[in-house]
Amino acid sequence: MRFKGAKFYDIYAKPQIYAADILINSLKNYRQNYDDIYEIGAGSGVLTRLILSQLEYKNLILNDLYESEFMSKFSTQIGDITQLKIKNKQDLIISSSVFQWINELENLSYNLKFSLKNGGILAFSTFIDGTLKELSSFTNQSLEYKNLAQLKAIFSKNFEILNAQERQIKLKFNNLKELLTHLKHTGVNNIKGEFKLTKSSFEALNSHFKNNFSLSYKFAILILKN
Ligand SMILES: C[S@@+](CC[C@H](N)C(=O)[O-])C[C@H]1O[C@@H](n2cnc3c(N)ncnc32)[C@H](O)[C@@H]1O
Repeated sequence: MRFKGAKFYDIYAKPQIYAADILINSLKNYRQNYDDIYEIGAGSGVLTRLILSQLEYKNLILNDLYESEFMSKFSTQIGDITQLKIKNKQDLIISSSVFQWINELENLSYNLKFSLKNGGILAFSTFIDGTLKELSSFTNQSLEYKNLAQLKAIFSKNFEILNAQERQIKLKFNNLKELLTHLKHTGVNNIKGEFKLTKSSFEALNSHFKNNFSLSYKFAILILKN
């Protein structure tokens, strides 16, 4: 999904807002002052707003595949983080609700290490296995989510793990239409490709939920030191 157009994202993105909040609060236990901060996948600025209000810094660069309206007021580096080279060495590289889209996390972990100063911090939240399991059990499709143990194994090759935790949030909806509106506006649906429902698949999905219209989101928070 192209997040540039997701103008209702901030209203519907409760799990992402929750993840960003826990990420910043976990990070603050270790360090609050930085010279150079680089955010990966800033999108409409859910995490950026928390960086602005809760961390102290001199320079902030925002990255994303596309430049959102929010990002246009900041220094940016636009492009796929797996392809570009981060400008200058950073004190903090931070990202919320992005790494679940990146398959080659081993390479990313290796590259980010060299974009951090000695003692610099990589802090991120990412959705993990168990996210939207209510949909995956219907469609038999899912993103290739990792679990916390896999993330720890990947990132401990390049970093010291200061903190690794997993959290869960369950959203409840009154009906299928509300649930689908939420999915549409957050752009996450565990389905590879377009999310299109016909009248009969809508009805099948409706009975699949058995009048319990809830969605689970599970995410990991990792705070890592170079
Ligand atoms: C779910 S949104 C999260 C936005 C924001 N960080 C938040 O906490 O709500 C995921 C963002 O990651 C961006 N993204 C996905 N893959 C990326 C990549 N390979 N490089 C840079 N940004 C990426 C998307 O464009 C999107 O804006």
